[in-house]
Amino acid sequence: MSEPRKILVTSALPYANGSIHLGHMLEYIQTDMWVRFQKHRGNQCTYVCADDAHGSAIMLRAEKEGITPEQLIANVQAEHSADFAEFLVDFDNFHSTHAEENRELSSQIYLKLRDAGHIATRSITQYFDPQKQMFLADRFIKGTCPKCGTEDQYGDNCEKCGATYAPTDLKNPKSAISGATPVLKDSQHFFFKLPDFQQMLQTWTRSGTLQDAVANKIAEWLDVGLQQWDISRDAPYFGFEIPDEPGKYFYVWLDAPIGYMASFKNLCARRPELDFDAYWAKDSTAELYHFIGKDIVNFHALFWPAMLEGAGYRKPTGINVHGYLTVNGQKMSKSRGTFIKARTYLDHLSPEYLRYYYASKLGRGVDDLDLNLEDFVQKVNSDLVGKVVNIASRCAGFIHKGNAGVLVDSNAAPELTEAFLAAAPSIADAYEVRDFARAMREIMGLADRANAWIADKAPWSLNKQEGKQEEVQAICATGVNLFRQLVIFLKPVLPLLAADAEAFLNVAPLTWNDHTTLLANHQLNEFKPLMTRIDPVKVQAMTDASKEDLAASQTDTGTAAPQGNGELAKDPLSAEIEFDAFAAVDLRVALILKAEAVEGADKLLRLTLDIGDEQRNVFSGIKSAYPDPAKLEGRLTMMIANLKPRKMRFGISEGMVMAAGPGGAEIYLLSPDSGAKPGQRIK
Ligand code: MSP
Ligand code: ZN
Repeated sequence: MSEPRKILVTSALPYANGSIHLGHMLEYIQTDMWVRFQKHRGNQCTYVCADDAHGSAIMLRAEKEGITPEQLIANVQAEHSADFAEFLVDFDNFHSTHAEENRELSSQIYLKLRDAGHIATRSITQYFDPQKQMFLADRFIKGTCPKCGTEDQYGDNCEKCGATYAPTDLKNPKSAISGATPVLKDSQHFFFKLPDFQQMLQTWTRSGTLQDAVANKIAEWLDVGLQQWDISRDAPYFGFEIPDEPGKYFYVWLDAPIGYMASFKNLCARRPELDFDAYWAKDSTAELYHFIGKDIVNFHALFWPAMLEGAGYRKPTGINVHGYLTVNGQKMSKSRGTFIKARTYLDHLSPEYLRYYYASKLGRGVDDLDLNLEDFVQKVNSDLVGKVVNIASRCAGFIHKGNAGVLVDSNAAPELTEAFLAAAPSIADAYEVRDFARAMREIMGLADRANAWIADKAPWSLNKQEGKQEEVQAICATGVNLFRQLVIFLKPVLPLLAADAEAFLNVAPLTWNDHTTLLANHQLNEFKPLMTRIDPVKVQAMTDASKEDLAASQTDTGTAAPQGNGELAKDPLSAEIEFDAFAAVDLRVALILKAEAVEGADKLLRLTLDIGDEQRNVFSGIKSAYPDPAKLEGRLTMMIANLKPRKMRFGISEGMVMAAGPGGAEIYLLSPDSGAKPGQRIK
């Protein structure tokens, strides 16, 4: 036997300012299946991840919620960890980039780069919010598109005409945070001199580290020539201060990939068999793989290897890139209920359904993957329930009734057990190269053969005949053995099913090599149903609940918070809705009886509203615009009266009032014309 490989694997670090959704899960499930496969094969494989906790978006969201960034990231880390655990994503460590190991490693790597001459400084001019006293990333500037004149566009591109521009090209620019008009201001920035690594990257990206499609894309960038990368941000910023440069912080994307190392380092402290240097030193023989989505290739295949090279560390063995998830053929959409959070899925369905579905569709390429919800139900029910589990349930009863649960020593289908054995290397190869779809096709091909054979032997008819009991037992023992082989092959994808099967089979946890043996003269345990069919009603309930999430996420301010690090992401809320969805909204005229500040929340007002037949308590994030809330009393506004009540830190919010504006001090409460009466419905 060859030496076990030493493999370190990562998934991209999810941002700590939002919930995990099924798009993210594609990556974590893909990585987890590959890691489980490596462990199953006896390799020393370690899987680390962390929350990506830094950046201005996190700072601003914490401020909005009236908590510290540290509290926010702790809350989110607990939520993320629970989601991953329930999806059976088995990290060896799930750390945070806001951790001491990361601060040390980031400083150390930066200093090595600086001392080797790879850091440049120069002054740049940027928009600055005079009210918030902070520089504004492109995402936090809104204004009129210089090309087509559409209002309310972000600082980097126009969603209407698609033009891209600098924020300084916008007409009538406003800070999306405070509403103030930004001013231009200079400040000193630090740059990583990426062009120093052009040669190295040209070779490295063509040395089998990347999928062809990715290498080709990168070659285009390399041909154009690399630019220096701005790695600093000015205070206020939530992150690590740059050594020797007070008031300057590392840009979130500088310390995020170093978070991979930091998470591993944190794990080494409690796992004596793991040695940090053995994995990260320049001469390391361990393998290092990063699984990522196609949107973050430049950070992983250009900036990151250059940083590692410049600081004297090893570079990744491979960057494994996957495409994006679509649902029912379209971008995930909140209004269609296809923007499905991990938690919402788990509230309705078992994690292994999705793990299998993703596996059945994931190839080694970077194509997008479609979760078609009808196909999902059909495929899982037909393959897992109809084919795999069916084999065991068809055979187990006869063994229990006819032979006290003892599996006899007799192989009734040597040609089949041979075929299963012969198929193993090809299945293993498919897993190894991340062609999960091929692995699943080959496994289901075997399951089809096993089912056809059992149907042909029909132990249920033989069992009714005199003197056939020995034959029945031989057939069923063989069927159970074939089932066991399938479970061994599927275990990286379906760890829970495997655990339940191990309990039924009465065996120790199965490893890949167990496929070379068969059970004989072996006592089985009671057979319990291993998996039930997906009920399409539950899928519908999940998409309905996802539509409700949309409403809840907008209760407190009336505007959606930007996702991501605030510099790259796009507004998720642009989809059309059906008329029915609109008609379901109960819009009413409301009289503000009382408006008061909420202690401990710097953005919220508590409103007591009269909507004709009842009074409502609503929290609204409009305090910066109405510093003297009493002035609102007696005014009419409009509210959504049938929004699901939402529990907030300060009480229950029973609806939402309508306001518009970029945010901060620029929020305008909407009012009906005079004459409207509280409680009247809006038509
Ligand atoms: N924080 C950065 C990664 C830093 S890694 C040093 C980030 N976070 S993210 O939360 O936006 O995304 C995490 C991973 O999920 C990324 O690899 C991203 O490509 C992936 N996905 C996010 N949405 C996705 C889909 N809709 N579909 C497939 N993958 C998706 O980027
Ligand atoms: Zn435009």
